[in-house]
Amino acid sequence: MENSTTVSLSTQIGRVALPVCLYNASGARCTTAQDLLALAQSGAGAVLSKSSTMQFREGNPAPRYYETTLGSINSMGLPNLGHEFYGQHAQVHAALQSGKPYIVSVSGLSLEENVSLIGFYNEAAGIDAIELNLSCPNLPGKPQTGYDFEQVQHVLDAVCPLAKQPLGVKLPPYFDIVHFEQMAAILNRYPLAFVTCINSVGNGLVIDAHTETVVIKPKNGFGGLGGDYVKPTALANVHAFYRLLRPEIGVIGCGGVKTGQDAFEHILCGAVAVQIGTQLMREDMPVFARIAYELQTIMQQKGYTRLEDFRGKLRYL
Ligand code: SIN
Repeated sequence: MENSTTVSLSTQIGRVALPVCLYNASGARCTTAQDLLALAQSGAGAVLSKSSTMQFREGNPAPRYYETTLGSINSMGLPNLGHEFYGQHAQVHAALQSGKPYIVSVSGLSLEENVSLIGFYNEAAGIDAIELNLSCPNLPGKPQTGYDFEQVQHVLDAVCPLAKQPLGVKLPPYFDIVHFEQMAAILNRYPLAFVTCINSVGNGLVIDAHTETVVIKPKNGFGGLGGDYVKPTALANVHAFYRLLRPEIGVIGCGGVKTGQDAFEHILCGAVAVQIGTQLMREDMPVFARIAYELQTIMQQKGYTRLEDFRGKLRYL
């Protein structure tokens, strides 16, 4: 890998340094101790946990994840091992000395639960940042917080004063220019280190014409879409928030990344780092080294030696 000596993929999310700008999307292979250890030993530049709740959750009934050639649909329902597990794993992660940050995803089922979780993780050693998930589309009867702008403000009013580690939010996709502007105006009022764009495109429906059925069980087959289906929406959200947010708030790209070129496009749109979901599910841990190599090759061909050489420099016609 000759090009790895001349092309750096290192990046910063606020004050958190990542040796490589690629890591897992929350939800993809990051629930169990085995998953988290495999991520620590992979080519990922950080380890991000599954979204955690206070209590262990079984999640929605299976089948709840399905892949097509164009991507994935899921309705997992936040299966996770509970906050104590992810807090304790922080010490395990630190002991591994992998040199990469450990980020915990938080998805309390209420405002009070988010406050308790952030209070708990504040005191747990070895956590480098918190990603607050405001966008799970898979909890029957619970709307996505990110689509309720007033509620987003209530949540941020409550949690921002508590957070000791760098705090970011994972947003749902927005589809209207006015919504980009309104949400960015809200986020700009808080001391956030990052926003992650985007969670899955909620409540899609994949069906099997042969069996004439839905392909996942929860919510009569409705679920969040990932993969190729969502890349243009993800790029639009990354670029809109890159332009609208204060420059101190890094945008993390997530959605449709399966090659080095996809990662390059997210960074060109303004992403400081790029998460991988559906393709990590398909390919497992080797995905990080492969995409890093492909991204380095593209950068070398273009004469770029670091991400800042092209980050956010998308040109208009
Ligand atoms: C899930 O567990 O249902 C997925 C999490 C998410 O989309 O935020």
